[in-house]
Amino acid sequence: MSRKILVTSALPYANGSIHLGHLVEYIQTDIWVRFQKMQGNECHYVCADDTHGTPIMLRAEKEGITPEQLIDRVWQEHYDDFRAFHVEFDHYGSTNSNETRDFAHAIYRKLQAADLIEKRSIEQYYDPLKQMFLPDRFIKGECPKCGAKDQYGDNCEVCGAAYTPAEVKNPYSAVSGAKPEMRASDHYFFKLSDPRCQAFLREWTKSGTLQAEAANKMQEWLGGEGENKLTDWDISRDAPYFGFEIPDAPGKYFYVWLDAPVGYMGSFKALCDKLTPPSLPLSGEESAAPSPDKGRAGEGLFDDYWKQGSTTELYHFIGKDILYFHALFWPAMLQHAGFRTPTKLFAHGFLTVNGEKMSKSRGTFITARSYVDHIKNTEYLRYYYASKLNGTMEDIDLNLEDFVAKVNSDLIGKYINIASRAAPFLTRLGGGCISENELNRYSQKDFGVDSSIDVFMSRLNDWREARYILEGAYENRNYSGAIRGIMEVADSINIFFNNTQPWKLAKDGSPASQDKARWACSIVMEGFRLLTIYLKPVLPETAREAERFLNVPPQQWEDAASFLPEGHCINEYSHLMTRLDPKLIEAMVAANQESLKPMIESHSPARHAEAQQHAPSPLTPLPQAGEGNKIAALAETISIDDFSKVDLRVAKIVNAEHVEGAEKLLKLTLDIGEEKPRTVFAGIKSAYDPEKLKGRMTVMVANLAPRKMKFGLSEGMVLAASGDAPGLFILSPDDGAQPGMRIK
Ligand code: 2FM
Ligand code: ZN
Repeated sequence: MSRKILVTSALPYANGSIHLGHLVEYIQTDIWVRFQKMQGNECHYVCADDTHGTPIMLRAEKEGITPEQLIDRVWQEHYDDFRAFHVEFDHYGSTNSNETRDFAHAIYRKLQAADLIEKRSIEQYYDPLKQMFLPDRFIKGECPKCGAKDQYGDNCEVCGAAYTPAEVKNPYSAVSGAKPEMRASDHYFFKLSDPRCQAFLREWTKSGTLQAEAANKMQEWLGGEGENKLTDWDISRDAPYFGFEIPDAPGKYFYVWLDAPVGYMGSFKALCDKLTPPSLPLSGEESAAPSPDKGRAGEGLFDDYWKQGSTTELYHFIGKDILYFHALFWPAMLQHAGFRTPTKLFAHGFLTVNGEKMSKSRGTFITARSYVDHIKNTEYLRYYYASKLNGTMEDIDLNLEDFVAKVNSDLIGKYINIASRAAPFLTRLGGGCISENELNRYSQKDFGVDSSIDVFMSRLNDWREARYILEGAYENRNYSGAIRGIMEVADSINIFFNNTQPWKLAKDGSPASQDKARWACSIVMEGFRLLTIYLKPVLPETAREAERFLNVPPQQWEDAASFLPEGHCINEYSHLMTRLDPKLIEAMVAANQESLKPMIESHSPARHAEAQQHAPSPLTPLPQAGEGNKIAALAETISIDDFSKVDLRVAKIVNAEHVEGAEKLLKLTLDIGEEKPRTVFAGIKSAYDPEKLKGRMTVMVANLAPRKMKFGLSEGMVLAASGDAPGLFILSPDDGAQPGMRIK
């Protein structure tokens, strides 16, 4: 009987692009879903953009658009990227939807009714300038342990200490630079410390819902029997916040992590409504009239999957970093709000590239879009990831050299080669039609292969029987095991082809030889069909092309149990896949470094990066009072719109140092209230002692494209006055200006 399965991948935040790290999960999930569908199971795959929270609100504000405009734009980008990588959701929604809001409200009310919500006043840092409470990451200051400056409000990147924002010394708001004040405010808590939650989670953890490593982590979080290590979870945030307002709590919003997983339900509900649309009005009825069923149509299907006690299966694919939310908060919320809980969580590790964290300066922080622009064939990556994934939480490495080697040797050298070598003989000798699949018509002796046991006979059966092992491997997300098994089959088919040597037989021209050659190529083509089925979850597009070439309908997993019928004719072979050229990889990596250079450099590549720092620009104050009051000619007139494109900010020079090997540059570390300080290389060495600059305020161009220089990445420009007379003068704002303030 077919299974009923609902699958999700973690919802990507709507404030950044999809990159190769994200794709590990979406590709992993998509392969699993495709495998389930090929098995004939009812399997739904939903996802959505995770759209709420402070960073999205602030980013929209920075871009001068509404959060809704921002999330609409990013949704389209994400959607296009997933399609390009053949990640095929049955529905891709947004957490900013009516469905998600309704479920978030319903869950909250149920938890409230179960006495699992509590209102408490807490003290938190407030930015008086920006008039908002500050999330921990938006508070910066000196580490209470080691004294390092400009550390985040929750941990120190220098000594690794973890602490609370209240412990940070000399705190400032990373949003406006203002000194934050402690203020009290009412917050809503989900009472995770309630004995009912603890008891439930202890049980749930042990019921096979988690991988072994994840279950161990849970034990750590929960503590031993009798211990109560879980603390209540703060689920509210104060206005201004982009999210859902909490029922009967004006000005209070659900914390983004409350409604994010609810987005799984919201997206599935939208799918249910799509699959079971409301009944159409009868002809003659007012067609514009809303159906009374609207919005309720998909409820049967929805309930089937989400009601408590449902026998359907629910799986969440997630990264190991968000296990806490999915293994504690989410099941506890569902359980106590009267919904079913997940069948299993499938957590995976992180991606490294060439053995290291993805890095912008090394060009290995590669977005999905950039990969598509350079490599085009996204199935290469799907294959490579599959060959590395094993269903555990271990990290996987994308080694770019190995990537090229594996794609070319496995996919082209072993798989595609089978079709491209055998097809021409079959076309020439049998008009492209395979001879009857009588396995025992010939034995290896007929081909002059010397062996005491007849390996030919068992070959095709072995290739076919491999499906049992492979389906186990796919089911357990041991794709690397599946790929190894598939490549063993491919090796065996290639050996068979080489042993039968149809190219020699075809040349000999006798009808007996030609019959043998056609027979061998028919067996080989059957092998190619089997490989196509086995690889289909990983290579859906190539499988589609191969099915067209083989002239067969879309293959299901069970088709591996049957034969191509006698006399079946294939189509003429045309290239199914080309080799991966390592130059494409080099170009992609280079472009990811190059793309950080400003436009001006790409238009005039000969210009030296350091020289460009001083290139005359309307941004540097050209008029210079010099001898005889002569000033340099004014730049051309610009409009206020032109000027407002330049984002000038007050910057605090938190560090200044010499740069080894640079004649003119100083390396400045500038704080403009962002999460991380910026590095700017400024050509002011002749005029300033770096020690004297430390702690000074100045002005920088904050939206200049970052530029890769010989000494590192320069993330902006400081403004300095200069003229014909000697001297170079950086600017200072008046007293009271704070880092991050915009200069208009
Ligand atoms: O970590 C993240 O990227 C989150 N946006 C994942 C949310 S998953 C689910 F809970 F919505
Ligand atoms: Zn520290």
